[in-house]
Amino acid sequence: MKFLLLLLGMVTACAATPQDLSGKMFTFPQETNRAYVRLNTTRQEFSALTVCHRSFTDLKRDHGLFSMSTSSHSNGFLIFWDETNKEMEAHIRDKKAEYRGRDYKPDMWHSVCTTWDSGSGLVQLWFDGRPSIRKFVTSGLSIRGSAMIIMIGQEQDNHGGGFDAKQSFVGMMSDVHMWDYILSPCEIQKYMDDLNYTPGNVLNWSALEFQIADRVLIEDKQMTCH
Ligand SMILES: *[C@@H]1O[C@H](CO)[C@@H](O)[C@H](O)[C@H]1NC(C)=O
Ligand SMILES: *[C@@H]1O[C@H](CO)[C@@H](O)[C@H](O)[C@H]1NC(C)=O
Repeated sequence: MKFLLLLLGMVTACAATPQDLSGKMFTFPQETNRAYVRLNTTRQEFSALTVCHRSFTDLKRDHGLFSMSTSSHSNGFLIFWDETNKEMEAHIRDKKAEYRGRDYKPDMWHSVCTTWDSGSGLVQLWFDGRPSIRKFVTSGLSIRGSAMIIMIGQEQDNHGGGFDAKQSFVGMMSDVHMWDYILSPCEIQKYMDDLNYTPGNVLNWSALEFQIADRVLIEDKQMTCH
């Protein structure tokens, strides 16, 4: 028993050191309201940000791609696919911008980058290399809270919980990065093309601190041969 506890302690300790996930992906292999990856940050405030990720799914229903909540806003920063309205949504401090007409095909990788800053209040969503218009969402106040909870796999309907299997992500996700500033269009294009881009200074896929809950696997990213 003591040995088991020691082992568990070691496993937890290992999980706390950053891991280089270059060339890897998280696989979310089943629909559940339990599986997620929690991404650690010690940041407590964002007055601007850029979040990028690549995902691969065949879901034909609503699902969250990236969910950050604070104690006052469950949708502090959320990227969500709304199947009914066929729109990609960016929620910031519980306000949302909707983007229709994205070619969100199943069974292929899609790259999404979203930028927002509190000064202008404008959000912009890049999808597979193409920018959206810049829409007003919410300005003036930053996204803040002493306990930011960032997750992929589940959408937080309340702070750190309120999961709905019917909004869960099923598929693969890779290259999750977060910056506390707005990336230039040129940098975003480099991310989209998977060329040499600057890694996130808040979340860095090459040095990621995270915790896995339930069945999520770390696997080599499957690419097609060229
Ligand atoms: C990550 O967050 C979890 C949950 O709050 C915590 O238990 C863990 O110690 C954190 N890891 C690091 C490296 O900060
Ligand atoms: C991201 O992680 C890599 C690998 O540890 C490191 O070389 C790089 O400096 C990090 N970048 C940032 C912006 O933190």
